[in-house]
Amino acid sequence: MTIGIIGSGAMGAGIAQVVATAGHAVRLLDQNAAALEKATAGIAASLRKLAEKGKLTTEAAGAAIARLHPTASMADFADCELVVEAIVEDLAVKQQVFRQLENIVNSECILATNTSSLSVTSIAAACLRPERFVGIHFFNPAPLMQLVEVIPAVQTRPGLADDIKALVASWGKRPVLAQDTPGFIVNRVARPFYGEAIRILEEGIADIATIDWALTELGGFRMGPFALMDFIGHDVNYRVTESVFTAFFYDPRYRPSFTQKRLFEAGYYGRKAGRGFYDYAPGAAQPTPNRDAALGQRILHRVLAMLINEAAEALHLRVASAPDLELAMTTGVNYPKGLLAWADELGPAQVLATLDDLYHDYHDDRYRASVLLRRLARENRYFLTHEPIPAVR
Ligand code: NAI
Repeated sequence: MTIGIIGSGAMGAGIAQVVATAGHAVRLLDQNAAALEKATAGIAASLRKLAEKGKLTTEAAGAAIARLHPTASMADFADCELVVEAIVEDLAVKQQVFRQLENIVNSECILATNTSSLSVTSIAAACLRPERFVGIHFFNPAPLMQLVEVIPAVQTRPGLADDIKALVASWGKRPVLAQDTPGFIVNRVARPFYGEAIRILEEGIADIATIDWALTELGGFRMGPFALMDFIGHDVNYRVTESVFTAFFYDPRYRPSFTQKRLFEAGYYGRKAGRGFYDYAPGAAQPTPNRDAALGQRILHRVLAMLINEAAEALHLRVASAPDLELAMTTGVNYPKGLLAWADELGPAQVLATLDDLYHDYHDDRYRASVLLRRLARENRYFLTHEPIPAVR
């Protein structure tokens, strides 16, 4: 199968590397000649490095490089059976590109977008044949990240998402199926990891170092929320938060914070700017956590309850299946456990009690518990097995 990739930035280049390595002939297009040149050289360099490390044979790396054809002309996409778009995150520009593409590819060619925040349905709506349109959402860096979210649009023909899942799996990836709702799975369910941590900071309950310590040392998360937001960059993380909030019709559960907005406005983007929540200047003093176990547990359980509530609500609203939710959060953002498994371990009633306490204190819809969580807690059942929780003897 010949695959076309439009956009050779961070994502397009990564996706091109994945599919070329998997054995597909690849046409890689970018409107910016310098970006295309940089991507082509970068892919070749990273394939050679993989060969040096013994992760790929030299022949396989050479063959993958040979399968990659950079081009400045969309006319070269005529023989593609699948085209994945990874250009600027702008609805009108994406729609325009697909309109142009449909004049070139044959009527069977599958059209896919890697968008993270636009509705797949809204992009498909610009197409003459939207039934062959689908979302294929990779994570950055695409060659390393296992997770791929497959998102059928409202118009997508039945069966196509399953075909795409099988194709993605043949590339050595772990596909999950997500409904076309804002943030799909990962960018929706992970929001409280950032948002609730910032609320705890804003209320003066704990400082950034203590909150990061609670989540990493007590919770087992690889990075604390503040270190992670600084790593992702507040330009990216704040924009995602804002777009998810807007896309959810201003549901208070996803409300952004002024704290992060101000960092964004100041250009304190995090590591890459030398400054974010932490100061990355050489020799800058780093805050030390208050390792009070009781405080740490309170912080952890508040953030965790909010994350579990998102997963529960996503399950309840059929955004994804339980196994896909678990796989998405453990492979897309490397959570130490699936959130539903975590809920079962803590006990749905315990998680509900944490949320209801918050709701009682704040009277803010942000803390409303998912009806599924409430139901399971009431019926003494687990998320993953739906079995009754055995009575304590
Ligand atoms: P990027 O800015 O690194 O690359 C975009 C590339 O598209 C640039 O090289 C640009 O020259 C090219 N381009 C823009 N308009 C074009 C057009 N009309 N025709 C041809 N080429 C065009 O962006 P990045 O980060 O690779 O993101 C691309 C898409 O992937 C966006 O939709 C983004 O939301 C999505 N995405 C980004 C992730 C990330 O972590 N960066 C993760 C998952 C999805």
